[in-house]
Amino acid sequence: MKYYIRTFGCQMNVNDSEKMAGILQSLGYKPAEDWSEADVILVNTCSVREKPDQKVLSALGEFKKVKKNNPSAVIGVCGCLAQRAGYEILQKAPFIDMVFGTTNIHNLPKLLQQAKLGNKAIEILEEIDENENLLNQYPTVRENKYTAYVTVIRGCDKKCTYCIVPYTRGKERSRRIGDILREVQFLVEDGVKEVHLIGQNVTAYGKDLGDVKFWELLVAVANVKGVERIRFTTGHPKDLDEDTIKAMADIPQVCEALHLPIQAGSDRILKAMDRGYTQRDYLQKIELLKKYIPDIALSTDIIVGFPGETYDDYLETVRVLKEVRYDQVFAFKYSPRPGTPAALLTSIAPEEKASRWLSDLINMQKEITFENNLKYQDRVVEVLFEEKKEDGQLVGRTRTNKLVYSYGRDNLLGELVEVKINTVNRFSMEGIILEA
Ligand code: 5AD
Ligand code: SF4
Repeated sequence: MKYYIRTFGCQMNVNDSEKMAGILQSLGYKPAEDWSEADVILVNTCSVREKPDQKVLSALGEFKKVKKNNPSAVIGVCGCLAQRAGYEILQKAPFIDMVFGTTNIHNLPKLLQQAKLGNKAIEILEEIDENENLLNQYPTVRENKYTAYVTVIRGCDKKCTYCIVPYTRGKERSRRIGDILREVQFLVEDGVKEVHLIGQNVTAYGKDLGDVKFWELLVAVANVKGVERIRFTTGHPKDLDEDTIKAMADIPQVCEALHLPIQAGSDRILKAMDRGYTQRDYLQKIELLKKYIPDIALSTDIIVGFPGETYDDYLETVRVLKEVRYDQVFAFKYSPRPGTPAALLTSIAPEEKASRWLSDLINMQKEITFENNLKYQDRVVEVLFEEKKEDGQLVGRTRTNKLVYSYGRDNLLGELVEVKINTVNRFSMEGIILEA
């Protein structure tokens, strides 16, 4: 029996899919090379913008064909779109056998059994399933041997007016620290060197537990023997405090990289988004980060064309990009999400204007990214090699998350190696391995 999983959306979905693969493998399933030979197809969906919504439906249309040769094949849909609109999807695609929400993933074995008996297996709860943590007991099946995601908090208590996530993923629930450390320990024993702590809002970690702070989690993870690098995503600027920034600077394994979404530069738009900070507040956090961690690589998310955004508002976003000089910017055109407060606003910036602003912004950022990368020329950096290409080239990442290609021996895979950068390209770098 074989399974195939198609994942849309963020790292949380990727990690949930890794867990689902873990569940299926524990039931004896093997991964299929291609969806057409699978006995179980799972589509893990995203609902953050309209585009991913549409992609899901077209993927389902394709996967439907699996039943031609294999009528007993099971097709399941889960993730954020399933949570928000599972019954609607079922109407549009009645051939689906299984639909389950974001907090019911641990019930996959039960649901699968039901579906295989020919019954529709549906589990979309309004409330968070109190047994959701049972999911943590399953191993993750990872593509990457040396780096691993660890979910530390689920859900989000912020109510940004454009965002669907609080409705699809529920309120903030931090995992117990002991539970997280056990998973990290297990991963290290499995060969993992870099641990990537993830959550919709990791910087809020511990608030709901009351007795532990995010920086303490960082210390605890760093104390697990064998953890050589730590990253975390995504943090809300409002919850990023000086203690966390100090911990990032003091803990040797925490990488000099941070994704800190600003969304917009204009105070008026930030207010309409209910982000809870002004441009000045945000830039003060950036200043603090650069003070404690001078080499930090910063990245961000931007929304262009929020209802009511004017050209002057947009220019404030451009101003921030020029001032911060991010290493990477993920920019999106605003997409109204049903049920969110912003979806009721009618003054949406004209499509054509928003598209032009977006492409101008992306082009400007490309240059900044390249200029930042050029500073790496002739520098010696630490690289964790993760993969070997067919032509023998090793591929890895710096602590600042830059992609580096080098030629070297296989046994350097999974090792932290010093590399002298000799070529800087737009999206990657090449270098010479300095042997110890
Ligand atoms: N429209 C466009 N982009 C959005 N994002 C979240 N909601 C929307 C929306 N309605 C973006 C934000 C967030 C990223 C994951 O997706 O920038 O940080
Ligand atoms: Fe998409 Fe947000 Fe759900 Fe992640 S949490 S899958 S980005 S809607």
